[in-house]
Amino acid sequence: MLLNPKGGCGKSTISTNLASYYANWGLNVGLADFDPQKSSLNWLHQRTFDLPAIKSINANTERFVYPEILDYLVIDTPASLDKESMLQLIQLADSIIIPILPSPIDIQAAGYFIYQLLLKYRITSEDKNICLVANRVRERTQIYGELIKFTNSIKLPLIATLHDSQNYIKYSSKGTSIFDYKDKHYLTRSIEDWMPLTDWLNSKETPFFSRIKQDS
Ligand SMILES: Nc1ncnc2c1ncn2[C@@H]1O[C@H](COP(=O)(O)OP(=O)(O)OP(=O)(O)O)[C@@H](O)[C@H]1O
Ligand SMILES: [Mg+2]
Repeated sequence: MLLNPKGGCGKSTISTNLASYYANWGLNVGLADFDPQKSSLNWLHQRTFDLPAIKSINANTERFVYPEILDYLVIDTPASLDKESMLQLIQLADSIIIPILPSPIDIQAAGYFIYQLLLKYRITSEDKNICLVANRVRERTQIYGELIKFTNSIKLPLIATLHDSQNYIKYSSKGTSIFDYKDKHYLTRSIEDWMPLTDWLNSKETPFFSRIKQDS
């Protein structure tokens, strides 16, 4: 689950690219979009049939039914969540990815959100796999240094750093991802950015994944 109530931090971009990553590995992956803006779902509607398939999963917090036949379910969430909706959503997830942008406003907002998550709502790394992802990064900028200082100061791992790239913007309107273009060498650096995140996710024997394995 991509979660951070700060708007525009990259939840939908990471959701769609992650779903496509699993689809390109031949895995059975679903994408559930809880955001009324439906950015991820709109992206999925643009996806053509020649590309590895991603299932659209009906996202309804009240009556969410786990799809039985998936290897992975990627869940996109909206900005500005109230406490109750956030807690309901958190219950659905095995792993939570918190994207953060290198910007003073985003770092401040992430600080407040993570304080709520860990201290007020008492969600800990023992209950859920939780990680941070720095998104839209331009290295050798002062603000990236500030972001690293911030992530070092909290008890959650910064697992990956995704660089700022126009390709994410370009592909967001085509239903494609950086993982759908095998022959494009200029994507190599962006793809490498994802490896620590996908390795981290793959290393987690999640209840969802083990449920599926037991059933099969
Ligand atoms: N690594 C990146 N490089 C360049 N652009 C990016 C990157 N990640 C996201 N973006 C762009 O930033 C904008 C916001 O990203 P996105 O819509 O994924 O954020 P969000 O957290 O889902 O926003 P919201 O809270 O409104 O749902 C989009 O235009 C997206 O294409
Ligand atoms: Mg979004």
